[in-house]
Amino acid sequence: MNERLDALRTGIRDRGLDAMLITSPDNRRYLTGFTGSAGAALVTAAEALLIVDSRYTEQAAAQAGHCTVVPQDRDLPTTLAGRVGELEIGRLGFEAEHVSVHNHDRWSRAVQAPEWVPVTGLVEDIRIVKDDGELESIRRAARIADEAFAEILPTVRAGRSEEEIALDLEFCARRLGAEGLSFPLIVASGERSALPHGRASERRIREGDLVTFDYGVVYGGYCSDATRTVAVGEPEPEARRVYETVLAAQRAALDAVRAGPTGFAVDAVAREIIGDAGYGEYFGHGLGHGLGLAVHEAPKLSYKDADEPLRAGMVVTVEPGIYLPGRFGVRIEDLVIVEEGGAEVLTTPTKELVVNRP
Ligand code: GLY
Ligand code: MN
Ligand code: MN
Repeated sequence: MNERLDALRTGIRDRGLDAMLITSPDNRRYLTGFTGSAGAALVTAAEALLIVDSRYTEQAAAQAGHCTVVPQDRDLPTTLAGRVGELEIGRLGFEAEHVSVHNHDRWSRAVQAPEWVPVTGLVEDIRIVKDDGELESIRRAARIADEAFAEILPTVRAGRSEEEIALDLEFCARRLGAEGLSFPLIVASGERSALPHGRASERRIREGDLVTFDYGVVYGGYCSDATRTVAVGEPEPEARRVYETVLAAQRAALDAVRAGPTGFAVDAVAREIIGDAGYGEYFGHGLGHGLGLAVHEAPKLSYKDADEPLRAGMVVTVEPGIYLPGRFGVRIEDLVIVEEGGAEVLTTPTKELVVNRP
């Protein structure tokens, strides 16, 4: 945790700030270890204060030993006003992407002494490369998710509803040690598989359907994320063609993942294969994203805003898809750790098309 605070302090100095106020739950947890749902960290060159209300003083003291726990007075701005004066903070950075306009107005009116400076991406840029402990949690989350998926896969049959199967998958994952889900499970069958984020519904699976499962669990606070598309009975010929196209694109992009290329370059590998097959307009989203405490975080693998070279220790998804509206869709998603010369793939289920026959 202290290295994380040191990295933050470098950022504070580089931006000409005296302090940074951290209120986003993931960033607060990352820097302090505190997992409660409310509180603020105030970090200066010499101090790391964790301001929490009475619900959390004991928990904060137990989890954030390297911080000074400050019980909140009446409310956050009141407490902040006192500390900002004591610590002689002139320029106070705040997380512009996480503080609402309402809170910014309220806080800056109540605490007028410092200049409030909007800051973006500071802690997110530190989080982008994972340490060994984080990687272990993500590996474990991925393993639990895959074991749960393997357990429910044989039960994916015509007549069962997406919701029933999603519930089984969640129950299995929790039984295997997951703390929860990374996001509401996506189980999208038949024409619903053309919805890239089709949450499990009451729809019942029919013979010939493709079914897309996008599933992820949380372990130790860290997320996993994986997608497999399977068939129930023999799918139509074009569905097989689309599947093979997505698979070829996914494998080629996965081969391109290593430290060095930008997220844009890796995205382009998959996009070219899908484009050459004539399905370019049906692959609307980016190829992948970083993942950690949040299921979507930096970096991006995409045709836009992805100029950053990949670095060893980043954790990213590789998830091309083709979606034919009203007909069917296919996505295949692996979760990988970027290494110097390649990638460690954490997702284990087969990528050959699984067909559950009656
Ligand atoms: N499950 C959301 C995603 O794959 O990005
Ligand atoms: Mn996913
Ligand atoms: Mn994903």
